Amino acid sequence: MNFDVARVRADFPALESGLAFFDAPGGTQTPIQVSETIATALRAPLSNRGLDNPAQRNADQIVVEARAALGDFLGNPAEAVVFGRSATQLTMDFAHTLARRWLPGDEVVVTRLDHDANIRPWLIAAARVGATVRWVDFDPTTAELDLDQLAASLTERTRVVAATGASNLVGTIPDLPAIAGLAHSVGALFWVDGVHLAAHARIDRVALGADVVVCSPYKFCGPHLGVLAADPALLAELRPDKLLPSADAVPERFELGTLPYELLAGTTAAVDFLADLGGGGTRTHRLDSAFARLHAHEHALQSRLETGLAERGAILYSRAERRTSTVLFDLPGRAASEVALALAAVGVTAPAGHFYALEASRHLGLGDRGAVRAGLAPYTDASDVDQLLTGLDRLCC
Ligand SMILES: Cc1ncc(COP(=O)(O)O)c(C=O)c1O
Repeated sequence: MNFDVARVRADFPALESGLAFFDAPGGTQTPIQVSETIATALRAPLSNRGLDNPAQRNADQIVVEARAALGDFLGNPAEAVVFGRSATQLTMDFAHTLARRWLPGDEVVVTRLDHDANIRPWLIAAARVGATVRWVDFDPTTAELDLDQLAASLTERTRVVAATGASNLVGTIPDLPAIAGLAHSVGALFWVDGVHLAAHARIDRVALGADVVVCSPYKFCGPHLGVLAADPALLAELRPDKLLPSADAVPERFELGTLPYELLAGTTAAVDFLADLGGGGTRTHRLDSAFARLHAHEHALQSRLETGLAERGAILYSRAERRTSTVLFDLPGRAASEVALALAAVGVTAPAGHFYALEASRHLGLGDRGAVRAGLAPYTDASDVDQLLTGLDRLCC
C-alpha cells in the first residue's frame, strides 16, 4: 500500500490554516486522534495513580499503556521507560545522577554535531566532579561525524559517550552501532539523543547498542513531554534525587512529582497514529512498516525540495550520506532571518536559527545566526514544497 498523504493531512486540523509547515524538527502539528485522546483523558474520572477507584485506575492504566507504547516505539522493555518534562530535563537530571559515580580525571565524550541538550548537561556534570570533556568534531564540508576522532578520544577513564541519533540542524545520522561498539570497548555508557531521529526512523535501543535513548513525543505528532528508554540494569543501579514518600521502584523513582497523565494518553495515541500508517502485525511491526513508508514519502519530497533549492542557487548544508529529510540552507546575499520572514509572509513556516545546535552552527561557520531550516513531516506534501520554493522566488528575483 502506498502512503496516502491526503488521508494523513485530513487528520491535522492545523493544516486548515493553509500554512505550509516546515518546522517539524522544532515540533510537529498534532493529529486529531492525539488531541481528542488528551481531551478524553481529562474529561474522564482522573486522579493520582492507584487501584482503589475508577479515577485512580484510569490514571494507572494510562501510565501502563504509555510505557508499553514507548517500549514498542523505542525497542525497550516497558518497565524501563521513564517520562519527564522534556528530553533536556531528563538528560540534565540523569547526567547529575550518573556523575555521582565519576571521579576527578574521569572523562566524557560529546560531539559538536549535537543539540545543546546533549552537550551542556554533560559539561555541567563533568565540571562538578572535575571530569575531563573530550570533543568530537564533524567535517563541515560533508557534515559527517569524525569517528576516527571519536575512537581516539576514548580511554579507560571514559564514562559516557553522548551522541546524537540525528542532527536536528543538518539531519546527519551518525553510525550509531559503530559508536556503541567503540564506547563499550572501553566500558563507557552510550547515551543517544534520539529526539530528531525518532521522527524519521524506528529506533530500536537494543539493536543500536545504546544504553540510553531520549526522545520527545512533540517531534513525532505527540504532546510536549520527554521520554527516556534505558537498559533496565542501568536504571536499577542509579539512585536519583527524590522525595522521601515517592515510589522507589524503577522507573517511578526517576519521575519527580505527578506525571502528566493526559499527555501520556496523547503520547500513546501518537504512537498508535504512526503505527496505523503501517501494515499489519504487532504494533512494533506496524511501526517498522510505517517508518519505511514515511521514509519513501519524505525522500521523494526531499529530492523535490533540494533540487528546487539548488536551482535557486541556495547553499545546502545538509550533506551527509545518511541523513533525515531536514534541510538547512541559505540564499546567497540574503540574511537567513530575512528569508524566514519572507517565507512566513507567504504562509510558509521555515524558521532561521541555530535551533540550539549552537556548536554545530558555529562549526559550520554560521556563527550564532544559523541558517534556514526546512523539515518534512508525515503531513508534508508536494504543494507545501512548491509553496516554499515559490516563496523563495519572490526573494531570488
Ligand atoms: C536533537 C534534539 N535534542 C534535544 C532537543 C530538546 O528536546 P526537549 O525540548 O524535549 O528538551 C531537541 C529539540 O529541538 C532536539 O531537536
